Amino acid sequence: EKDGYDHFMLKEIAEQPKAVADTLLGRIGADGRLLLDQMRLSDEELREMDKVVVIACGTAYHAGMVAKYAIEHWTRVPCEVELASEFRYRDPVVGRRTLVVAISQSGETMDTLMALRYAREQGARVLAICNTNGATIPRESDAVFYTYAGPEVAVASTKAFLTQLIACYLVGLYLGQVRGTKWGDEVRSVVRDLSDLPSKVDQVLETMEPVRALARELSTATSVLFVGRHVGFPVALEGALKLKELAYMHAEGFAAAELKHGPIALIEDGVPVVVVVPSPRGRSVLHDKIVSNIQEIRARGARTIVIAEEGDEAVVPYADHIVRVPECPTLLQPVVATVPLQVFACEMASARGFDVDQPRNLAKSVTVE
Ligand code: F6R
Repeated sequence: EKDGYDHFMLKEIAEQPKAVADTLLGRIGADGRLLLDQMRLSDEELREMDKVVVIACGTAYHAGMVAKYAIEHWTRVPCEVELASEFRYRDPVVGRRTLVVAISQSGETMDTLMALRYAREQGARVLAICNTNGATIPRESDAVFYTYAGPEVAVASTKAFLTQLIACYLVGLYLGQVRGTKWGDEVRSVVRDLSDLPSKVDQVLETMEPVRALARELSTATSVLFVGRHVGFPVALEGALKLKELAYMHAEGFAAAELKHGPIALIEDGVPVVVVVPSPRGRSVLHDKIVSNIQEIRARGARTIVIAEEGDEAVVPYADHIVRVPECPTLLQPVVATVPLQVFACEMASARGFDVDQPRNLAKSVTVE
């Protein structure tokens, strides 16, 4: 049951630190190496792969977009991500040396299932990342990596998404480990950073009251835009999807630099724009670029809501509202940066009087193509 929460979604948002910790549990050895042999793909097979293709729908697709950045960076194996519904209708190049990763919370999504069947017919090896033990997608795959989010009841996916991210990181790092690419200090430190994530998500959850207040204040807005770069881009898409499905509000996510190629025309006085800002440490070019994007948006009258790392002072002059998240390496930041967007959408839906757990027209798993 709801354990005293008003909605399953709120309960599931609150369960995220545990969901993340459970998904990491038993998968990192004492020496920092990953233990994923339960996946049933041999090291030899993994070494032979020359391409990774991630297929998924909706929120799971956003996890797949993050996977692409992480897998290519850590393994140097080319990685594509595609909407499952588009995949098999375009004659994709897949074969024996393609690792197809099918991400699905329910394990029953028909678009994803049909795509994975197609991939297997072409000779590809399929790894399912799934939250539901024994569901059709893992049963029909060559290998499976289970996420341990526990049952997700609210239609909008929250805790499953965070665990899908964790699964993608672990699979990417494992591939790096097995292939011996980039398995050095950088990757070892990422493994340590993964273990810190449950407490970081907890920290975010403790500071959500201002986000709720902001959602109530903006509940009559007609449109909200979300922008990000790099892995902040899928986070922006996810923030927009949550708002559409729960608050029935026009919302769109963009890669920040694409704004100037058209969508910036949408920005008029007072339009809320949520900006996901990467860490100023590490790849600081990325950070500097987005700070100038915020400046451009603000100059056109947008109301800027900035998700930024603690201690990032560069964003302060251009932010109407700042939501702070703990320090995190860029690739892992989606795990903390998505949480405020979930809370924002959930509160917005309540403020507008909609059913948070059962949004109109939606079902928990989409079993038609
Ligand atoms: C959004 C949402 C959907 C699902 C999508 C895939 O909050 O829940 O977009 O992510 O229908 O579902 P699964 O992961 O079960 O394949």
